[in-house]
Amino acid sequence: MINVIRSRVGNRAKVLAVCSGVLISGGVAGCAEQPGGEDAEEVEFASADQAITANGDPLPGISAADFAEAKAAFATVEGLDDGLGPIFNEKGCGNCHTQGAVGGAGVQIERRFGTFTSTGTFNSLANKGGSLRQLFTVGSFTGAGGKACNAPLEVEPPEATVHAGRLTTPLFGAGLIDAIPDSVIVANANAQPTSIRGVVNRVKVLLGNPADPNQVLNSTHVGRFGWKAGIASLVQFSADAYINEMGITTQHCIGGTSLTTFATESKPNGIAQPAGCDDRGPGGAGIPAGTDDGVGSCAGGLTEIQEDVDLFFKFMTFLAPLPRLAIDPNTNLAGGTAFNKAGCAGCHLLKDYVTPAHPANGVPANFTFRPRSDFLLHDMGTLGDQIGNDGDSKATTRLMRTAPLWGLHARTKFLHDGRASTIEQAIAAHDGQAAASKAAFNALSATEKSAMLAAMKSD
Ligand code: HEC
Ligand code: HEC
Repeated sequence: MINVIRSRVGNRAKVLAVCSGVLISGGVAGCAEQPGGEDAEEVEFASADQAITANGDPLPGISAADFAEAKAAFATVEGLDDGLGPIFNEKGCGNCHTQGAVGGAGVQIERRFGTFTSTGTFNSLANKGGSLRQLFTVGSFTGAGGKACNAPLEVEPPEATVHAGRLTTPLFGAGLIDAIPDSVIVANANAQPTSIRGVVNRVKVLLGNPADPNQVLNSTHVGRFGWKAGIASLVQFSADAYINEMGITTQHCIGGTSLTTFATESKPNGIAQPAGCDDRGPGGAGIPAGTDDGVGSCAGGLTEIQEDVDLFFKFMTFLAPLPRLAIDPNTNLAGGTAFNKAGCAGCHLLKDYVTPAHPANGVPANFTFRPRSDFLLHDMGTLGDQIGNDGDSKATTRLMRTAPLWGLHARTKFLHDGRASTIEQAIAAHDGQAAASKAAFNALSATEKSAMLAAMKSD
């Protein structure tokens, strides 16, 4: 499954790394990547064989017409009559995911809030509309039966003591990430030295790709999407984003059962809107009252994902990684080597992932990609956003997913709250498990630093 590409200098394959004085053969991620290691291996930042496409192109495996339809759905701007609101962050997926091509990162920064209980555990203030604060309301409108409605704007309640921002992440290559087997992510953690070992975030699948046996409803699967790796399936992220970003609620059928997890409107600061005033979602036969879109009756053992959610999922599944910019081979090698020496590769793994022989989500088989992440959570110290699930310890709320480092050249903001506008600023904010690596970066020579940054900016 994993193929660690090592550079060749002259004719000598650099496949040996020294770890705690023991000579170990190549492929032990994390071992050779101790910050500042004198024996740091030479490693290329980019592997040679990443498939090159134009920005926003699909991976092979979907027809041009199907991809165009899925992309159009993702880019659609929706309104009150489509079910937008009562509160929302934007009117279309494509309004936020913009940089590089439709599906990219964005500059929108969402707001999260919460507090800690007297015993020090996280409280999302769910009864006050937390932890996500939607930024807009549909305001006053005429609801069902001519009813005059006015959806209030959500505000951060006085009880909130934690306030965090969340930058829009890129979706290029998301289908490849969706196809990574859990065992590969677990192996990433096992290979890390304890000082930087990440946490595998096992989460419940609340809606999965019906074709994927690893995404069976209510089963446990390794989370990998979002700044907190909180979601394990692109289908689930689609339904979740539809309701949380846009206020559009959906019903689905799984094995003959109607799934209503994503069918209830958000309540501004916890206040349910009067009947007929949730918004003007179209609903339809068999769709639960108040739900904007769905499948209807699930009779006959029907399994079907609501159409928009299905299209968003397909768009993201087949959206290829951004092509890299051209890079000089010497910079690629010197940059990767410096990145490795500084310990960055301990978490942002410089290894190639390869998709399974028969990916359930339809992405190409045996496809090589290098997202430079372990898809694990790390205690980032002061960089942690202190947002979690109800009952989480303070330490748990500092956990953040190793952000994949690809497509960086299309970005203008970095880190979970967009506080950094350069890669250097992003490094400077690393703390906790990444503090030693930051120090090792600061200790690099000017030549090493510039090769490393040039390599990073070329991807
Ligand atoms: C208001 C801006 C906004 C809109 C609209 C929006 N997103 Fe996002 N998206 C974000 C932000 C912010 C994140 C990071 C969320 C987090 O981790 O807390 C994100 C993350 C994601 C991710 C996780 C990717 C990763 O890096 O792991 C997926 C998948 C996604 N969005 C899909 C969608 C879909 C599908 C839609 C439309 C239904 C959508 N988004 C609409 C802002 C937006
Ligand atoms: C202990 C694991 C770890 C190490 C070591 C580490 N990082 Fe990170 N990195 C992360 C995490 C986690 C994030 C996400 C931070 C956040 O949520 O704001 C991140 C984010 C980033 C980002 C921002 C990406 C984005 O999408 O906004 C950059 C750039 C980055 N790291 C570069 C580096 C470099 C360069 C090094 C070496 C000097 C390094 N990192 C070392 C874990 C690590």
